[in-house]
Amino acid sequence: MNDVIQQFDPVSFTYTYILIDHETNDAVIIDPVDTKLNQLINFITEKDLKIRYVMETHAHADHITSAGNLCKVTGATAATPTHCNISNAEIQLNDGDELNFGKQQKIIALHTPGHTAGSMSFIWNDNVFTGDTLLINGCGRTDFQSGSNQQLYKSITEKLFTLPDHTKVWL
Ligand SMILES: [Fe+2]
Repeated sequence: MNDVIQQFDPVSFTYTYILIDHETNDAVIIDPVDTKLNQLINFITEKDLKIRYVMETHAHADHITSAGNLCKVTGATAATPTHCNISNAEIQLNDGDELNFGKQQKIIALHTPGHTAGSMSFIWNDNVFTGDTLLINGCGRTDFQSGSNQQLYKSITEKLFTLPDHTKVWL
């Protein structure tokens, strides 16, 4: 039994995700926002979650991450895309890398450059978390942070579109 919890930051319009393995209470957090740190820690405490990894889909220009503080508080390990050059993250993810948590939970890192050169999407069971590679009715901007509209087109049509039809897309 798994769960995806979605939290929203209305200031930066960022979605943060908490992936929970209910068998073990192990969990992973994707794209946490600094101003929501206390709210997130309260949630973690209330649900008695053991945070194994804090992941970033890319280096964000619209908000500050709380990954560093979250790792300090929870003992989790930070995992970020290698081409985002977030050098203080312990795990540098390459295309196809897997992270395991809980008893049998597996997250696969998929390099989907375009919004930024390092951007990744994360696949977990029937879910994909796309960062700003996709937005609601659109996609992330490509005009800075080494973005590329050509690369983004390829990432979407040649990588994300090849995922099974029943995949749930979390933006
Ligand atoms: Fe972004």
